[in-house]
Amino acid sequence: ENNILSKLPLRGKKVLITAGPTYEAIDPVRFIGNHSSGKMGFAIAKEAANLGAEVILISGPSHQQIKHSFVKRVDVVSADEMYDAAHQYFNEVDIAILAAAVADYKPKKVAHQKIKKQDSSLTIALTPTKDILASLGLIKKQQFLVGFALETNNEIENAKSKVIRKNLDAIVLNSLQDKGAGFATNTNKITIIDKNLNEKAFELKSKAAVAKDIINEIILRSKNQDT
Ligand code: CTP
Ligand code: CA
Repeated sequence: ENNILSKLPLRGKKVLITAGPTYEAIDPVRFIGNHSSGKMGFAIAKEAANLGAEVILISGPSHQQIKHSFVKRVDVVSADEMYDAAHQYFNEVDIAILAAAVADYKPKKVAHQKIKKQDSSLTIALTPTKDILASLGLIKKQQFLVGFALETNNEIENAKSKVIRKNLDAIVLNSLQDKGAGFATNTNKITIIDKNLNEKAFELKSKAAVAKDIINEIILRSKNQDT
């Protein structure tokens, strides 16, 4: 073939991406959330689609927008909903990139009515959410599975232990050490660690450029994997 489509390295591939925060309901009007903007996950979705992939983008509450005929956006709110959506699509994909900032805990009970203000202190009991990434690591077959890690100390060691513990093919470590990397910013500084625990550090870049690096590495490494 010598048409333009043959230049697209992800043509015929399906990619699942999670993005954004999750919101865990406390009562009908309140939730526990985090500052994730969804920018990184959406940038990865756009890059994968631009390279020809069919993308399933599972997003928590985010103001990000994406218009691309190769991207199917699935909106969810809570960690439980994101877990169900990820499992619904995982079997059919070739690559899964879990960039969402999933809540680690949710309220043990959701109050059916708005909790009234009291004079005394209020304690909300929390219970762990399911780890979506680890659960996919347990069942993965052909899928190239990529996680993210945000660490504030012992970054590399903690990220490496996540690669092993969650049975990943690679992890993207977000460096908080440099200003300009992280949640609400437009830039990121990453290190990619593969399943053999090889490290590759990248410069501080725009999230669009970081997305290109991530997809590039995945294409290289998933090619080496299937022989
Ligand atoms: N993750 C997930 N489901 C969860 C929690 C995390 O899928 N319930 C995924 C994130 O999307 C990310 C990776 O796991 O790809 C690592 O998230 P992170 O918060 O760094 O790791 P945790 O295992 O939650 O450990 P900790 O927060 O204690 O560092
Ligand atoms: Ca966490």
